[in-house]
Parts: sequence; structure tokens; C-alpha cells
Amino acid sequence: AQVEQAEFVKSSVETEECPSDGKPEFALVGRSNVGKSSLLNSLVKRKRLALTSKKPGKTQCINHFRINDSWYLVDLPGYGYAAAPHEVRTDWAKFTKDYFLNRPTLVSVFLLIDASIPAKKIDLEYASWLGQNQIPMTLVFTKCDKRKKKKNGGRRPEENLQDFLKLIQKFFQTVPPWIMTSSVTNQGRDEILLHMSQLRNY
Ligand code: GTP
Ligand code: MG
Repeated sequence: AQVEQAEFVKSSVETEECPSDGKPEFALVGRSNVGKSSLLNSLVKRKRLALTSKKPGKTQCINHFRINDSWYLVDLPGYGYAAAPHEVRTDWAKFTKDYFLNRPTLVSVFLLIDASIPAKKIDLEYASWLGQNQIPMTLVFTKCDKRKKKKNGGRRPEENLQDFLKLIQKFFQTVPPWIMTSSVTNQGRDEILLHMSQLRNY
């Protein structure tokens, strides 16, 4: 399930522009700054294939990366970026939701949740939207290397993620599959790649 080859293919601003070769794909979604682009780099073992930033709102398009010439990882803009103007935010919501609903080659969404901070309402809303629209999802808890901080409620990543799973259980009959990760230590990388290969059936 390892990545031997990874290349940037294209940036699209709407679903119709995305690659049309029918290869299966997995989308990384989550709040701005949650670590989507960093996780992508960790999965492909490249430092700067997807561009990352301390400032939220770095990724603004639907970015396709071809892996081993046979499937795609898709980096999406984050939601919940408070500093973005209102129109920009609703545009993002519109085009990412259109992508989820109208992309038959999308095998599963990987919804990233920051485990270094307490559960956020917007993440629960996003998860429930995906669930209601029957879009398969895997929860990926990010930044599990971070130590607890007083300003973040003084809770450990494990505690934050257990809280989130409890809240998720109120929306779903079953809890979706979930994986603990860190792009700093590469925790969870092999688990995600294995899970993706099982979802693709090869
Ligand atoms: P947008 O493109 O703005 O939506 O953000 P993103 O979700 O792609 O986040 P990005 O990968 O750019 O990372 C945001 C910040 O979080 C950067 O400063 C990263 O270095 C940091 N970061 C990402 N993943 C981890 C992690 O696993 N651990 C720690 N400690 N920091 C991380
Ligand atoms: Mg990004």
C-alpha cells in the first residue's frame, strides 16, 4: 500500500474541470489549518508536494495528486475560515459540496479533525452533512503529537478525540472508521494507506 510515485496533476475550481480518467480518489477535507496539506505530504513522503501554511486558507482549489499512476489524493480548501469574507466562504461551501455530490470516482472522504483542541461544532455539522448525503467517510484525527495546553482546555489529544466520537455517535447509528495521525511523527500514515487500498480493492 506504499506510495512509489506522486505527482501534482491539476487545480480545479469546479467539479467539471476535475480529471476525467475515472481513477478512484480520496478527498482530504476539514477545517482550515487542520493539517490536510501536511497529511498529504506525509502520505507521499514529500515535504512540499502540497503547499502548507501557518495561516489558514492556504489551499483554495480542488487539487488532484496522482499516486502510483492509478489513484488520486485530493486536497481541498478548508471550511470554517473565519477571516475569509462571507461571499468567499459560501463559494467554498458550494463548490466543495457540489464536488462531493457529483464526483462518482470519489471512493471516500477523509474528514480531518484537530485532536489538539476540543471538538468544534462546525466539524460535527460537516460530518452530519456528509452522513445525511450518504457520502462514505473516514475520520482522521490530526496533530496527535501535540501536548495538552491550558488554553485548549488542558485536555490530551486522546481525550478530545473520545469526546468527538461520543458526539458523533449522536448523529450516526455507527461511528465511522477513525485513525489517529500526526504529520510530525508520521503516526497513522501506514494505517491510512492500508485503509485506502482496502477501499479501492487493491
Ligand atoms: P488550509 O489549506 O488553509 O485549509 O490548511 P490545511 O488543512 O491544509 O493545513 P496545513 O497542512 O497547511 O497545516 C496548517 C498548520 O498546522 C501548519 O503550520 C502545519 O505545520 C501544522 N500541522 C499540520 N499537521 C500537523 C501535525 O500533525 N502536528 C503538528 N504539531 N502540527 C501540524
Ligand atoms: Mg491546505
